[in-house]
Formats: sequence, C-alpha cells, structure tokens
Amino acid sequence: MSTPTLTRPWLAVCALDDVPLLGSRRVARERGLPVALFRTANDQIHALLDRCPHKGGPLSQGIVLADGVACPLHNWTIQLSDGCARSPDVGSTPVFATRVEGGQVYLDADELASLGTDLTAPVAGPPCRARDS
Ligand code: FES
Repeated sequence: MSTPTLTRPWLAVCALDDVPLLGSRRVARERGLPVALFRTANDQIHALLDRCPHKGGPLSQGIVLADGVACPLHNWTIQLSDGCARSPDVGSTPVFATRVEGGQVYLDADELASLGTDLTAPVAGPPCRARDS
C-alpha cells in the first residue's frame, strides 16, 4: 500500500470498502466526538464531526443524500462539502479533510487531534419538570 503524497500528516483510518455506498462509518478519536465518514453515490468520501449543529444528533446514523446527510433526529440536511445546515436552517459542524488513495481512506492527523474537540455530545433523558408543591 502506498501512502498519500501531499504534505498533510495523513492517517489511514479504514478501507474505502469499509464505508458502504450511500452510507457512513464512525471513526473514534482519542479526544473529542467521533468523525463520521460518508460515501456518496458517486464514490466521494466526506468527513464531518458526528454531531448535528441543531441539537447534536448523530449524523452517522442519518440518510446520505447526493450532497448532504439528513439528520436522524429532526431531518435537517447538513451539506457534506462544508458542514453547513441547508437553508432555512442555520449552523454548521466541523468538516475534516479526506483523501482516498489505493483503496484506503485517510484523514488529517492534526485535524483529528484538534478539530471540534471542544464540542460535546448532547445529554439525553426525560425533560425536567417543575415540582408540584
Ligand atoms: S439534532 Fe439534527 S436535526 Fe435536530
């Protein structure tokens, strides 16, 4: 297997075939939320932080569209190219650089170590209610 030739510190994260067509795969990190890899119908790989800009839904469990992913929680569409919510919704999630070479998917090691590491997962649970008394 050859390694990518560009100057970024590329890190092999999985085989291209490990990401299903029109599907996704999560890549765990030492710090921060996982990264979601998406494979489009035309075999492009995109990577976003696995956190919807709306309320933190797991984008890796969404439906992959031609150029976006529909969040499984409230169906916002997040564009794969720039991580932005499609209008009229607003907000964005971090985008990670990707490279595919020799059937292997690579992510930038520096971005994996730093991008979006301050963002946390939403806390699930029942809504808080005021006590009757
Ligand atoms: S959390 Fe993704 S649309 Fe609401």
